[in-house]
Amino acid sequence: MDARIVVLPGDGIGPEVTAEALRVLEAVARKGGHAFHFSEQLMGGCSIDRHGTALTAEALAACKASRAVLLGAVGGPKWDDPTAKVRPEQGLLALRKGLGVFANLRPVTVHPALIDSSPLKADRLQGVDILVIRELTGGLYFGQPKGRDVRDGHERAVDTLEYFDFEVRRVVELAFRLAQGRRRKVTSVDKANVLESSRLWRQVASAIGQAHPGVALDHMLVDTASMRLVVAPASFDVVVTENMFGDILTDEASVLAGSMGMLPSASLGDGGPGLYEPIHGSAPDIAGQGVANPVGTILSAAMMLRHSLGLPAEAGAVEAAVHRAIADGCRTKDLGGSLQTSRMTDEILRRL
Ligand code: IPM
Ligand code: MG
Repeated sequence: MDARIVVLPGDGIGPEVTAEALRVLEAVARKGGHAFHFSEQLMGGCSIDRHGTALTAEALAACKASRAVLLGAVGGPKWDDPTAKVRPEQGLLALRKGLGVFANLRPVTVHPALIDSSPLKADRLQGVDILVIRELTGGLYFGQPKGRDVRDGHERAVDTLEYFDFEVRRVVELAFRLAQGRRRKVTSVDKANVLESSRLWRQVASAIGQAHPGVALDHMLVDTASMRLVVAPASFDVVVTENMFGDILTDEASVLAGSMGMLPSASLGDGGPGLYEPIHGSAPDIAGQGVANPVGTILSAAMMLRHSLGLPAEAGAVEAAVHRAIADGCRTKDLGGSLQTSRMTDEILRRL
């Protein structure tokens, strides 16, 4: 198989972790006789420094013309001024919107050997295997109007939580499809006791639930869900929710896995290129030291093999190699170990 892959290393530890994931993809290509053509583009703070914008039209066009995009992380203290007109995160939002990747898959599993790395009690973590699907191109992040004005002599700021029925339908339908290959349970998270957009969300989700009698559907309010995620995380299978609810709940869920550095994500649209990135940020405090955990990005590359490159066996092999390396005690600093970023990858490659 032949595929063009755009790499957006980004800022902070982004370039360090994407470099490791590329080593793994190259090993997969060598073994299977595949040709992956990688090309790099700037996105985030590095693009602001060079071009004055977080994502240029050329970089977006290159991503659109690819089979898949691998992203490291964006942002850092240098670009953190909240009054700045140009921000690294704008690049990420423009990329998600531009690629039309409306579903963000964030699987959360707890490796048995890492149970003690989590601040939660060990017995709560047995059997945790959650797939959070966060709506990614609508909701509070993109609703219009948004902005500032002055009203009655006071400065006012507005964000809008807006959903169309079709935006809810396509992401909830994906949740049901993916639940069919899992434990057949979907929890749709909303705030239907307060928000109109959530009442539409619930109505659409219920209709889809009725069309899928083989999958159990639960509705849960987002405040309850945030509590259940730490009290009974093993009770969740597939969780599907609004953009910002999903942003917040996945940071919370990442604590279950012992380190944010472990967790991958895939953002998928309707057949176009997929976007793959670890869920951690640019970690400016450890950037440039070669100590970042590459696992989240390597597992994101595995998701790319599965969802964009049609290579599910190879994806499984990468995941198994990561699993064995962790089981054998290989640990980067975030997990209390001392392996450098590239040594951790060496250990994974040896087991691939
Ligand atoms: C994430 C991040 C982003 C988001 C930021 C960096 C804009 O927190 O991917 O979860 O809020 O979507
Ligand atoms: Mg987030």
